[in-house]
Amino acid sequence: MRGPHNIIRLIRTGATLERTGAMNVVLDAFEAPKPLRILAHTLGWPFKWLGYKGDPQMPAATRALTALGPAYIKFGQVLSTRPDVVGDDLAQQLRVLQDKLPPFPREVAMAEVAKELGRPVDEVFSEFSEPIAAASIAQVHRARLADTGEYVAVKVLRPGIERAFRKDVDAFYFAARIVDLFAPGARRLRPMDVIEHFDGVVQGELDLRLESAAASEFAANTGQDEGFTLPPVQWNHSARRVMTLGWADGVPLGDNDAIDAAGHDRQVLGARVLTLFLQHALRDGFFHADMHQGNLKVAANGDIIAYDFGIMGHIDEYTRRVYAEILFGFIRRDYKRVAEVHFEAGYVPADRDVDEFARALRAVGEPIFGMDASHISMGRLLNYLFEVTERFGMETRTELILLQRTMVVVEGVARSLDPHINIWEAARPVVEDYIKKSIGPRAVASDLISTAQVMARFGPRLPALVERALIAQVQGGETQKRGSWGWLAPALIGAGAGGLCVGLLALVL
Ligand SMILES: Nc1ncnc2c1ncn2[C@@H]1O[C@H](COP(=O)(O)OP(=O)(O)O)[C@@H](O)[C@H]1O
Ligand SMILES: [Mg+2]
Repeated sequence: MRGPHNIIRLIRTGATLERTGAMNVVLDAFEAPKPLRILAHTLGWPFKWLGYKGDPQMPAATRALTALGPAYIKFGQVLSTRPDVVGDDLAQQLRVLQDKLPPFPREVAMAEVAKELGRPVDEVFSEFSEPIAAASIAQVHRARLADTGEYVAVKVLRPGIERAFRKDVDAFYFAARIVDLFAPGARRLRPMDVIEHFDGVVQGELDLRLESAAASEFAANTGQDEGFTLPPVQWNHSARRVMTLGWADGVPLGDNDAIDAAGHDRQVLGARVLTLFLQHALRDGFFHADMHQGNLKVAANGDIIAYDFGIMGHIDEYTRRVYAEILFGFIRRDYKRVAEVHFEAGYVPADRDVDEFARALRAVGEPIFGMDASHISMGRLLNYLFEVTERFGMETRTELILLQRTMVVVEGVARSLDPHINIWEAARPVVEDYIKKSIGPRAVASDLISTAQVMARFGPRLPALVERALIAQVQGGETQKRGSWGWLAPALIGAGAGGLCVGLLALVL
């Protein structure tokens, strides 16, 4: 980590923030304490003239980040997904940051492809277009496979982008350390966490194999989803810096006139976008977290096609169940139950007052459900819910914020297709179906089956294990001391009983 280098970068950043008028916006958003404010202005102000001017048409923060370059634009985009860190206002402002940069030449891209795939480009592709889209990390070309004649999209990382980002991310870490020094324990400021999160996101995008892997996992999960298609990954033409996907042929989802002209039913499409997203989030716990119109098309047969798998969201099964119950509680307006679920899951500290929490939840739910159906938004409901849970001491969870934010985007897409869509009506069957499967008797049965499967893996060792556990239990009882195996015996016996139940259930079902 080169100190002087980073100091210069830091000064340039401070100077640009001052020059564009973004310094106070940023300090306010982070609720920066006095010493940090003084330091920031001292570093930035005298060097104001060194800062980039940026585009005066843009709002201050967007203007500064765009002027500072790709890593900063990306950083701004990542921060826009973290209202827990920068507050709602700045997060909203940062959402408009456009990750668009001038493309690099086609020849350079072809050289990169040849180097990565270890073969001359014209051996692999019979056609290779000029860049069709260029962002801070990569750009995309349309190409045609030499052997099959199939059209594909080829994403290529910018040459040298890894080093460029490394330098900037180093400087971000350096800045985070300084902030830590001057504002230890400030409420919203967790600079190290934020930079680590950013670093993780960027590292992921700098290895296109991860995006390819996400694409193929997503395809495996959604293979049976009606009306949904994904361009397949061409693994033999992909590597760390190159990703080749089937070409998604269709009408852009943002172009209502073209969709109408092609004879598609926008009401059906609107509801489908929403149901698909919910299914992926609830059923699979793996969802496309960048579902704006630019990443979606409608195929000639009416299927929705999604691409751009750079940002995917994960939610573990337990959390999915908890949130399904929470949503279900909201549907029934059973706020006490919603509150209890939070306590049972340990999300809200046990010393808080359930009734008070339930009242706060009622204040979230009632206004939303009281709205005209065409205005109900689950994204907004979740947003208010997280505000309340944070107030009651629940830790912020990045994956849930990503879910909430994507939900808002998806609802926006659905509404732009069908302005009268009743989000709740469209979503209800998916939520109810998930609840039936995940919380009802069938869920109990499937949990027991999983437990029995785990037990079965111990197979022939099981009797000996049980015997040892029982002996330990008996001996432990004699010496009034529970050995470390003591807990296992009841567990095994319970599981054995569980296994029996499974057998019975399997017969019944
Ligand atoms: N498989 C594909 N089929 C057709 N067009 C694609 C495909 N993948 C990407 N594109 C085009 O390239 C653009 C940029 O690709 P994308 O993966 O969305 O990158 P970014 O992360 O920069 O948004 C897309 O908006 C789309 O126009
Ligand atoms: Mg995109």
